[in-house]
Amino acid sequence: MLAVPLAAHTAISAELLEGKIVLDASNYYPSRDGRIAELDEDKTTTSELIHRHFLGMRLVKAFNNILAHHIPLLARPAGAPDRTALPIAGDDADAKKAAAALIGQLGFDTVDAGPLAQSWRIEPETTAYTRLYLADPATPFEQVMQAPARPVSAAELHRALEAVERLHVADRTF
Ligand SMILES: NC(=O)c1ccc[n+]([C@@H]2O[C@H](COP(=O)([O-])OP(=O)(O)OC[C@H]3O[C@@H](n4cnc5c(N)ncnc54)[C@H](OP(=O)(O)O)[C@@H]3O)[C@@H](O)[C@H]2O)c1
Repeated sequence: MLAVPLAAHTAISAELLEGKIVLDASNYYPSRDGRIAELDEDKTTTSELIHRHFLGMRLVKAFNNILAHHIPLLARPAGAPDRTALPIAGDDADAKKAAAALIGQLGFDTVDAGPLAQSWRIEPETTAYTRLYLADPATPFEQVMQAPARPVSAAELHRALEAVERLHVADRTF
């Protein structure tokens, strides 16, 4: 699991995760990470940028679109009627399969959001991002880190992913 501020990933040795399947929770927040021209110009995605740094890493983008405190609130056993779905994105089909199995054991269904090049669909401020799981989608920004969650089925997540339009990252202010 890679869960460090985006700007910190280059501080990790490029060889450290060679051959490993890594769940990448990273997001780009210019206010925290500084402006990164390639991302601002929509030339690449956050996970592609990270993938490029690490040699032979089998990266699956996962858990980036859900607030940390919502994970224990929404985890349910397989088959539960209110089981929530999370998106995964990646270029390695076997790694995605392994990631889906692990995430399934942790309490969530998964929906394939496509290859890393399409992972902008689950980046900040899209319709498939963290607000989707808020019990009250109008929760003010300052309150989201404590806000209650609601279950999101695989069918609803599919619909949210289909509705996503690509945002211009340069316009993002936080
Ligand atoms: N928090 C959320 O709800 C959430 C949800 C979805 C996605 N994300 C994304 O997940 C990533 C991590 O978020 P977070 O909230 O877990 O961040 P965080 O609490 O600020 O940082 C996580 C860890 O990163 C380590 N770290 C910081 N700078 C480092 C460096 N230069 N080298 C190595 N390790 C470093 C820190 O380790 P030490 O304590 O040892 O310094 C810290 O414990 C971000 O990209 C974030 O946008 C977060």
